Amino acid sequence: MRIYQEADYEAMSRRAANIIAAEVIRRPDCVLGLATGSTPVGAYKQLIEGNRRGDYSFREVRSVNLDEYKGLAPTHDQSYRYFMQTNLFDHIDIKPENTHVPDGLAADPEAECANYDELVRSLGYADLQLLGLGRNGHIGFNEPCDCFVKPTHVVDLTQSTIDANARFFATADDVPRQALTMGIGCIMAARRVLLIVSGEDKADAVYNAFCGPITPQCPASILQLHNDVIVVGDKAALSKLAAAGVSVCE
Ligand code: F6R
Repeated sequence: MRIYQEADYEAMSRRAANIIAAEVIRRPDCVLGLATGSTPVGAYKQLIEGNRRGDYSFREVRSVNLDEYKGLAPTHDQSYRYFMQTNLFDHIDIKPENTHVPDGLAADPEAECANYDELVRSLGYADLQLLGLGRNGHIGFNEPCDCFVKPTHVVDLTQSTIDANARFFATADDVPRQALTMGIGCIMAARRVLLIVSGEDKADAVYNAFCGPITPQCPASILQLHNDVIVVGDKAALSKLAAAGVSVCE
């Protein structure tokens, strides 16, 4: 595992975008696993700029997103499909048919999960899987629980996640209670994982994920078993790693 400590959110975003861009340049038809939330927004902005400058193209790239709220239409301004369109896809030259996000409105969510798993498998899994990190240690919407859930599945969001995401909705009551999420299986099958994290409120989650025991109570801790993980964080998010003497690249 390589851990890059950056001074702030801007620098973290630049480093993350460079790693993603390098993947696209090296493998123009790569499969990118993508994430939503506030953390990747800066990296996506950098990727849009690089694409506009003509530094690299997404024409042959395929993408698979981690998750989607159950019950939200793609046009809902808090759906993850909408997030991806407005924060990345609408501004780069990726082909719409090559982008994939679970369908939050699927009549049969379990079947949608099984189909999504099969889709990701048929693409050969992600060459590079981008992840954010929940304050409770979740990756995708794999919430702390008694076992690691491998397949794409419907999950009940925990109160911690509902509270954390309430900032995007008019009220906490509007936050969907369930989501469809890629499971630990597809995430761990990615060739390389890039986890980005920012802010002091994530410092405990980072510490638990990479210095604590491997436990489904901290889903990100499974990444200790992946052989190609890059963590890019700002100083605040990595502060407890540094305090524990974990060596980081600057
Ligand atoms: C989003 C996702 C989540 C977020 C995590 C952090 O697709 O899968 O795991 O990455 O909740 O969210 P932010 O970046 O908003 O702190």
